Amino acid sequence: MNPYGYFDDAAREYVITRPDTPLPWLNYLGSDEYFGLCTNTAGGYTFWKDAKLRRISRYRYNNMPMDLGGRYLYVRDGDVVWNPGWKPTKTALDHYECRHGLGYTKIVGRKDSVEVELLFFVPPGENTEVWKTTIRNTGDVAKSITLFSFIEFCLFEANNDMTNYQRTYSIGEVEVEGAGIYHKTEYRERRNHYALFGCTRPVDGFDTSRDAFVGVHNGLNDPDVPLRGKSRNSIGHGWNPIGSHQINLTLAPGASESFAFILAYVEQGDEPKFDKRFVMNKSVGRAELERYSRPGAVDAAFAKVEAYWDNLLARFQTECPDPHASRMLNTWNQYQCMATFNLSRSASLFETGIGRGMGFRDSNQDILGFVHMIPERARQRILDIASTQLVDGTCYHQYQPLTKKGNAEIGGNFNDDHLWLVLSTASYLRETGDRSILDAAIGYADVPGSTDSLLHHLETSIAYTLRERGPHRLPLIGHADWNDCLNLNCFSTEPNESFQLIGDVEGSKAESVMIAGLFLYAAREMVSMYKWLGRPADADRVQSYYDDMLATVEEQAWDGEWYIRAFDAAGNPVGSKSCEEGKIFIESQAWCVLGGAGASNGRAKQAMESVHKYLYTPDGIILQQPAYSEYHLELGEISSYPPGYKENAGIFCHNNTWINLGWCLLGDGDRALEYYLSICPSAKEDKIDTYRCEPYVYAQMIAGRDADTPGEAKNSWLTGTAAWTFLSVSQGLLGIQPSYEGLRVDPCIPKSWPGFSVSRMYRGTTYNITVDNPSGICQGVRRMTVDGVVVDGNVIPPSASGGMVDVRVVLGA
Ligand code: BGC
Ligand code: NOJ
Repeated sequence: MNPYGYFDDAAREYVITRPDTPLPWLNYLGSDEYFGLCTNTAGGYTFWKDAKLRRISRYRYNNMPMDLGGRYLYVRDGDVVWNPGWKPTKTALDHYECRHGLGYTKIVGRKDSVEVELLFFVPPGENTEVWKTTIRNTGDVAKSITLFSFIEFCLFEANNDMTNYQRTYSIGEVEVEGAGIYHKTEYRERRNHYALFGCTRPVDGFDTSRDAFVGVHNGLNDPDVPLRGKSRNSIGHGWNPIGSHQINLTLAPGASESFAFILAYVEQGDEPKFDKRFVMNKSVGRAELERYSRPGAVDAAFAKVEAYWDNLLARFQTECPDPHASRMLNTWNQYQCMATFNLSRSASLFETGIGRGMGFRDSNQDILGFVHMIPERARQRILDIASTQLVDGTCYHQYQPLTKKGNAEIGGNFNDDHLWLVLSTASYLRETGDRSILDAAIGYADVPGSTDSLLHHLETSIAYTLRERGPHRLPLIGHADWNDCLNLNCFSTEPNESFQLIGDVEGSKAESVMIAGLFLYAAREMVSMYKWLGRPADADRVQSYYDDMLATVEEQAWDGEWYIRAFDAAGNPVGSKSCEEGKIFIESQAWCVLGGAGASNGRAKQAMESVHKYLYTPDGIILQQPAYSEYHLELGEISSYPPGYKENAGIFCHNNTWINLGWCLLGDGDRALEYYLSICPSAKEDKIDTYRCEPYVYAQMIAGRDADTPGEAKNSWLTGTAAWTFLSVSQGLLGIQPSYEGLRVDPCIPKSWPGFSVSRMYRGTTYNITVDNPSGICQGVRRMTVDGVVVDGNVIPPSASGGMVDVRVVLGA
């Protein structure tokens, strides 16, 4: 039992029944360019495209309370001031409920017979956030209340906004026109955009100066204007611009009133910038407010959000015996895949939006869970990412979503980055069959005017790893591979340095077995791709690279019971029985097995059994064991974390999913499901006070058994776990695998499952697939019929019907 809420599976909502959740529980609004973070107490902020460069409203991270600042509505009833989402006043409510749904959050608060419902959403394709507001008098006497809305504007560049006060305290500018509050800082000089906070009904007052509304010595919990009951009609000059409307309402018993606030981001197009000196041309914003003020406009916009998600989720739906797997796959996991695709690791309750932009490796992996939803957007993303690759094969590790330019401060030399591009491209090709992407002219970031194709980039990636190898002929690691904290060239003794950026990678000999495994996987993808393209000579060429790397892995990296993780700069093994701590790591077992190592000599099975014996716990698989208890200069950040947290023997959920795929490869569906459930948030509801994060989205990390708080999750929402779990369950466990030849069905399920069904849209046709497991096995398709006709093998021949195709699969020997 979760005392804080429950899944409403039919409504596809998570319902939070009390506001004091163990941590703020977050949702996202928006799916294209305008995004909002919204917690269960209406906290959070909004931005357009880029949480650093175009932030619309303010948020102070790591505040006290942790989540403060957001979309607030103050209700003044007599002398009592309250908020429907409880915070910031925290006045006790008679009733509270928050429903986090797909692209919207609905918060209902009731006190003394006044019920306020706030529905926050961003319609698809729009740059406007809507707060549908409904006030009901649920009692039997008339009620007169006053409402005050509140938003604090960010001066658009979020980093400057919170660091450069000598400037920002003097530049804030606003204009007010009727119920429209326009935030126009820097509009006169360099910006062609502004924000509008408007109300669709006439207002009885407004404020735009924070000092006037909140008071210099007050906080959001006791803001001056709601306490005194009357707006000041302030115009902010410099300091901190805000938006607040006053609305006076009298409601008869049983009566209700509904209207909306809108928060819009507006970019001026061809229209003149100014109406007259210092007065901006507000025509676009004004029209937006008018549009939303028309009867039915708000509900029609919300219907678009619902239709958007109905359509997207319909592409993959399953009915399977495990309720957690069903609800996560059908709804929340896919939903989380959209968030990670859109935001990479930039803006969550754990990522401030001013640090990382889009990560090269992260965004490529996010494609894997997203590509079936909107392949066209995945295509564009792949090309954007590829264009931040350099001609020698390295890549900018991160890039800014607004400019799409690589981040020069962070640079490259994370020697796994480029290989993930092969995986994302292959997943796009297998999903769509659109080979034209390979010819797209994108060029290299360091060669102005270059137009090399995506296929050229893939070859450059493969060539880089083949070339950059160390003394054991294994790939050089550079600053780090997937595990950002295994910094084998860093040797940092200075606390002011970044583990990732310091250290001389030039000439260093540290090598990564994980990259070798990832290379095997990527090379195999390339071989299949070339065969499909009808280029057997290229397929053979890449196969020879594969064979060579496989032989190297088997010769150099087997430790007796598992694969070594790496060789450090001095050539000593990392993740070997000969090490005192960190004897066995998860990543090299996963990638060697997934890349096909150990398949013919029993080592794959042995490596996986070692994972089970040494790393698996009921809370998930620990990254390595034993945890590092001391700082190791030669290993870097990994040994800087206290034991049990993050990369130092935490449960890094992302890489758990690779092991699950490994079990599917080996045909053990019981293990695959058991492991899946160990990190599944929906399965954490009975220990939510320990787990603490949202039960509807995966977290990056769960504290491992060496930690002082084992089982405690952190860093929810923006994690590679989303894409990889969707892949490992939909393609591994349920075995619905897009392939070059068509949709392959190759489940690996628990023996106890009698069967399951999946409806999957693939290349425009919907396949309704029913799988029966009469003899209680994990893996092996005995018979498959497609629209009643028996077919050979387990690949559904492609159909261009665009309609429905009925597929029956029977498992058996
Ligand atoms: C974290 C990693 C992260 C890296 C780069 C480290 O402090 O532990 O998980 O990938 O920073 O941002
Ligand atoms: C989080 C980072 O975003 C990702 O790139 C990295 O692979 C993992 N941490 C593991 O260190």
